[in-house]
Amino acid sequence: MLSASPPLPVRVPLHTQPMGVWQSFRAAQRNVLELIPKIATEVPILSGKTGKRWHMLMDPDGLRQVLRDRVGDYPKSVVTKLILEPAIGDSLFVAEGAQWMWQRRTAAPVFSHRHVTALGSVMSAAADRSAARLAGAAGREVDLFEEMVSATFEVIADVTFSDGSGFDRDAVHLAIEQYIRETAKVSLLDILGAPRWVPRPNRLFTGSAMRATKRLADQAIEARRTEGAKTPPDLLDLLMAGSDPESGRQMTTAELRDNLLTFIVAGHETTALTLAWALYLCAFDQDVQTAAREEAALVLGSRVATVEDLPALPRVRQIVDEALRLYPPAAFLSRTAMAPDTLCGREVRPGDTVILPIYALHRHRLLWEDADAFRPERFADPKAVPRFHYLPFGDGPRICIGASFALQEAVIVLATLLARFRFTPVPGRDPKPVMILTLRPEGGVWLKVERV
Ligand code: HEM
Repeated sequence: MLSASPPLPVRVPLHTQPMGVWQSFRAAQRNVLELIPKIATEVPILSGKTGKRWHMLMDPDGLRQVLRDRVGDYPKSVVTKLILEPAIGDSLFVAEGAQWMWQRRTAAPVFSHRHVTALGSVMSAAADRSAARLAGAAGREVDLFEEMVSATFEVIADVTFSDGSGFDRDAVHLAIEQYIRETAKVSLLDILGAPRWVPRPNRLFTGSAMRATKRLADQAIEARRTEGAKTPPDLLDLLMAGSDPESGRQMTTAELRDNLLTFIVAGHETTALTLAWALYLCAFDQDVQTAAREEAALVLGSRVATVEDLPALPRVRQIVDEALRLYPPAAFLSRTAMAPDTLCGREVRPGDTVILPIYALHRHRLLWEDADAFRPERFADPKAVPRFHYLPFGDGPRICIGASFALQEAVIVLATLLARFRFTPVPGRDPKPVMILTLRPEGGVWLKVERV
């Protein structure tokens, strides 16, 4: 008799029938990820026309072409810019060409191994506070997504505008949350260029909270100029002291502010999602959780994890890597082709939209065995995972500048929590993966938390 296959963690129901414009609109309202057809996990490229010509690219060689070898011909799509520019200006995340290049050169040393390691103490302190809050809720059901948003926001607030700069954290947090919720309902329809008459998810945002945030940030930057750097220097100190190695240019207050807000927007929710999905997966598979707890408890005893512990926590790191595969926070990226090209034998014309559906790449049948299954041991030997099969942080010159910062934070927090608590699912409250600006668990990640 055949044994039943083991249950799979939650996933997005990818559609199997071709969708018309109206149907696509309905699906996009529910969940942008539902627009990705199931076949995207089976073929290397899919092309179509919805007002504009588009290609969905899942082929690793094609992805290398777009993200690395011909990166100049594939700038970020106009939609990405329209969504993010009001919040973060022409900063590192959205800028192109020379404007991007000098900012990247200036910011790169800020995220060097030495500086990120020095910021580990901030991450350990936030992990400890998060564990204390959870200890207060032991025995109850807790929304771990909300808890992880608080923990990662503390980290990013402490390493951008740390205490003493007169920066109202709660106000900033609220403004950014509101911005993401109200403005940033990325519609794949926009990316695919659907006709104007197709209604879009609402964009009611007035921008006043974000304007107030920018004013506060400017004040905090000016205050820091007179106060001097902190120990260890935070991201603001490092960026303020930095300059473009080629031109010597330094950032103005407005440029510093836009980039620091970029780090907050790009860095905190993505890391919170990674942690929340990792905890969901640990609750889903108790054997994996127990093994990771044994590892963490052996290394940590009852203390909080630090940067020095990272090499001794490979299982915890593998869970983070696998969570980023199954639920990549940036579930798809998009580019606009500027020059004629050929991708996987398909003709690409200038103006075509190229969608890089990372969610589908990470669950592609030709690239991953049992693609939908939770198996952290896939990452036991990181070299065994080919580079362009796995792109949670993108790749090429525009690869995430905060990747090692995020991974360090995720392992420190996850190891600390697993050593102290057991997480179990709450029946009937599985999270539903929904794409807003990022891939979020709708309804939160509700788990029962118990001390071990
Ligand atoms: C798990 C957490 C994170 C994930 C999954 C993530 C994902 C990504 C991805 C996929 C990109 C490339 C986007 C594209 O090519 O279109 C990116 C770029 C970027 N990320 Fe992250 N990110 C994370 C954490 C962070 C953190 C902690 C920071 C800063 C503190 C950060 C700052 C940035 C910036 C500034 C860029 C733009 C880089 C450039 O264009 O030169 N991210 N991120």
